[in-house]
Amino acid sequence: MGDLAAIILAAGKGTRMKSELVKVMHPLAGVPMVAWPVEAARQAGASRMVLVVGHQADTIREHFAGTENMAFALQEEQLGTGHAVASAAAPLDGFRGRVLILCGDVPLIRAETLQGMIAAHGASGAALTVLTTRLENPFGYGRIIRGFDGRVIRIVEEKDATPEERGRNEVNAGIYCAEAAFLFDAVKRIGNDNAQGEYYLTDIVTMANERGLRCTAHPVADPMEVMGVNDRAQLAEAGRFARQRINGALMLDGVTIVDPAAAYIDRGVTVGRDTTIHPGVHLSGETRIGEGCVIESGAVIKGSTLGDGCVVEPGAMIRSCRLGSRVMVKAGTVMEDAVIHDHTAIGPMAHLRPGTELMAHVKIGNFVETKKITMGEGSKASHLTYLGDASIGSNVNVGCGTITCNYDGVRKHRTVIEDDVFVGSDVQFVAPVTIGRNSLIAAGTTVTRDVPPDSLAIARTPQVNKDGWKLKKRD
Ligand code: UD1
Ligand code: CA
Repeated sequence: MGDLAAIILAAGKGTRMKSELVKVMHPLAGVPMVAWPVEAARQAGASRMVLVVGHQADTIREHFAGTENMAFALQEEQLGTGHAVASAAAPLDGFRGRVLILCGDVPLIRAETLQGMIAAHGASGAALTVLTTRLENPFGYGRIIRGFDGRVIRIVEEKDATPEERGRNEVNAGIYCAEAAFLFDAVKRIGNDNAQGEYYLTDIVTMANERGLRCTAHPVADPMEVMGVNDRAQLAEAGRFARQRINGALMLDGVTIVDPAAAYIDRGVTVGRDTTIHPGVHLSGETRIGEGCVIESGAVIKGSTLGDGCVVEPGAMIRSCRLGSRVMVKAGTVMEDAVIHDHTAIGPMAHLRPGTELMAHVKIGNFVETKKITMGEGSKASHLTYLGDASIGSNVNVGCGTITCNYDGVRKHRTVIEDDVFVGSDVQFVAPVTIGRNSLIAAGTTVTRDVPPDSLAIARTPQVNKDGWKLKKRD
């Protein structure tokens, strides 16, 4: 098939978005809109790409920095689509293959469709192939004017069209396949004598015909694929189509999605088979969900990995975490930058802050907050506890209401609790402090000194009972 390059037009501002952010960087299923055609072009076989940037060029460049085989062309003034393609000529100097042209605001084009167009282009011997579709309401699009033999002889923009031409409903999708030699010669010669005073890329159709070169149309059946996004309503609509595609593919791979219209799964997220996704779930960023998991309503999972057989209950928020298998995250739990090993149970309503690592079979109960701690295998903190800056061994029981007093107003200090320690309820550890293995801390104790192994630490005022005190008070 020969060498294939792609030019992606992304220099426009997108005024109708009414946004500080350039249109093509608005996220569609979690990735910038323009990343969709870029990926489609790559999958279709483009070995080099040129992104034409203008508005917020640096923002776009930064996003794609380090992308293999991608060059940027700066179009300082947006004088039209023809001018935009001409701006991309320099990085492709000497290139003699075929060029795909895509628009950054037409995100839903599929690689398979591009491959179909490239194949048809090659088979027909055309110099230029235009992707087209038929629309019930073609308003705003360039209309395809075909000759008697079906070739495309002209594309006329809405604003330049006669009433008869406006009545035609085959439209230009703004996606093309062209022979490089023809394309870069033609775009140099485009004029701007039209209703908008712009350099129209569509004029190269006329030029091909004038030179006796063939220009064909490649119709695409589903107009959704070539839908342009110009405002936020269209962005939402494209989002709906994007989710249909993402969720549809996941379901074919064996994921149960209870209501595909209400599962918000970003592009690039992976979900293992036999996992069930309930309505109102958001999975975003670099998220990987294992097999046989259950993700319940209102769970939000960002940039996290979950092993097999995990359960995430309603309203949990998991960000930048690594979970092993069979982890149970109960309702309302929030965790960030935490590493959770197999068979742990967390929550409901727990708050695991950055630097938390829980080994296997740990149990964290309701209203427990942790920060920068490790907790060894089989340890438990079942209720109402703050554990910060601590190393906790295995098989430690942390009683209700325990607090690591890690901050002295100036510095943070660590608490070390060795294996098999039993911590009674309402204990304070005034750090720095170390509790030796197999010790017992009596309920209500404020620990201010290290505790040796195998011992009992108790620090509370002895209880006094005053017999008959209540009765005497009444008299
Ligand atoms: C264009 C086509 C029209 C087609 C429609 C499909 C032309 C003249 N018209 O119209 O036939 O039906 O797309 O969606 O080509 N851009 C630049 N630099 C510029 C101008 C535009 O990079 O100077 C980029 C935009 O950022 C956008 C794309 O090119 O991604 C399309 O430009 P736009 O102005 O939206 O063209 P349309 O009027 O939609
Ligand atoms: Ca457009």
